[in-house]
Amino acid sequence: MDISGKSIVVTGGASGIGAALARQAAEAGGKVCIADLNIDAANALAQEIGGMAVACDVTYEAQIIAGIQNAEEAHGPVDIFVSNAGLGRGDPSHAASASDADWTLNWNVHVMAHVWAARALLPAMIERGSGHFVNVASAAGLLNQIGDAAYSATKHAAVSFAESLLITHGNDGIGVSVVCPQYVATPLLGLGDGDAQGNLLTAGDVAKSVWQGVADGTFVIMPHPDVAKYNALRGADPARWIKGMQMLRAKAMSEYGGISVQNFYKLI
Ligand SMILES: NC(=O)c1ccc[n+]([C@@H]2O[C@H](COP(=O)([O-])OP(=O)(O)OC[C@H]3O[C@@H](n4cnc5c(N)ncnc54)[C@H](O)[C@@H]3O)[C@@H](O)[C@H]2O)c1
Repeated sequence: MDISGKSIVVTGGASGIGAALARQAAEAGGKVCIADLNIDAANALAQEIGGMAVACDVTYEAQIIAGIQNAEEAHGPVDIFVSNAGLGRGDPSHAASASDADWTLNWNVHVMAHVWAARALLPAMIERGSGHFVNVASAAGLLNQIGDAAYSATKHAAVSFAESLLITHGNDGIGVSVVCPQYVATPLLGLGDGDAQGNLLTAGDVAKSVWQGVADGTFVIMPHPDVAKYNALRGADPARWIKGMQMLRAKAMSEYGGISVQNFYKLI
């Protein structure tokens, strides 16, 4: 899909990957609505790129519906909805140690927000015979984020929901892209563009891959080429893949004295 002139909503668009997606979409002629919890940052970016901002907590279906209504009043029917908002809290200790509140938050932000956006938009998109969902998952949605079971499980669910969307509605003219990056230098990891090196991409690098993938109609967008290799290995030989992940975890423990998601990009 060509994004010029399109009505585009980006959740979590005030920071990191979402901000880069919003910026590049506006540069390409898209009409961009930034929907974020952080309305001050969303407003500032909207002003900079000539878009609009709405306050939206994606853990509430009503706020997603209201955000879409606001965007449609200003920019016309939503052509592309980017579900990008996300968070990572990490396991406090063992793999089942995160609180129920954290599991529910991960579930609502990484999965239900995608479901609620699709529920709000699909009927009109099907009637028009066009529309595109860009659902930002993670390489952890294909593989695993060591040290964050709730993140890993819900990102897998996000990939699965994107598959269901495309299987069910691809023939209705609906496009779906699910984005599976490895580490990106954003505030989520306490990093910024200046920290990017090697396998640690900038948010702008990821956004470039995403908009290219949308233009090409790519389903699984993997900005880091190694992810496809690891995913193939996991499918071909799950036992060997688990052994490799256990070794990586042991390396993180010995080099950093504990598991911190923020350190993993240094190990791969
Ligand atoms: N940074 C990485 O290494 C990385 C890797 C793979 C996938 N991702 C995914 O990319 C997406 C963007 O992450 P990022 O690194 O740019 O993070 P970030 O922390 O820089 O930005 C996240 C944005 O989401 C917003 N947000 C959080 N909860 C929200 C909610 N309930 N409602 C509305 N907005 C909310 C925040 O206010 C923020 O603006 C996430 O889904 C994340 O899981 C990130």
